[in-house]
Amino acid sequence: PLGAEGLGIIFLIGYMGCGKSTKAKQLAHRLDCPVIDLDAEIVSRTGKTIAEYFEAFGESGFRDYESETLKTYPYPENCVVATGGGLPCFFDNMDWMNTNGTTAYLEMQPAQLVSRLQNRQKRPLIKDLDDEQLLEFINVKLAERNPFYTKAKVIVNAFDLDAEKLKEV
Ligand code: S3P
Repeated sequence: PLGAEGLGIIFLIGYMGCGKSTKAKQLAHRLDCPVIDLDAEIVSRTGKTIAEYFEAFGESGFRDYESETLKTYPYPENCVVATGGGLPCFFDNMDWMNTNGTTAYLEMQPAQLVSRLQNRQKRPLIKDLDDEQLLEFINVKLAERNPFYTKAKVIVNAFDLDAEKLKEV
């Protein structure tokens, strides 16, 4: 492994389906540091799936809880964190991450995201959409979210991010 010395907290951000969780695991393995998945942390704290949480408390309840989870997690010194796709775009979460760590935006084309988002049931915002509707939805959402995502310190094609690149930042 490359080692995680001096890495700090690396926050991976980007749209649903861009591969944040998988990439976070690979990077953490290569860097020999812990990986944290904030969606998984929400599930373990609440005992509810994300879909169940949305069902019970609505999107705004979820955004409150998500932001609180981001800000209260006991992060180790060096780690890689996968965030939920919407997390950077609510409250001051993006600024908070930039203050407390290094943010990396995993960019991916909308059509590619659609093809990767085949199992939509666990994602309440898109569970009822067909491919054509999803493409339209993603285009609208990305226009809204890009002003937040592009505040990331590193902006990189989702397939290109590797541990060597992170060590250079
Ligand atoms: C969301 C993304 C999801 C999850 C929730 C809402 C979003 O996380 O937090 O379903 O608003 O983009 P992933 O990006 O890990 O799927």
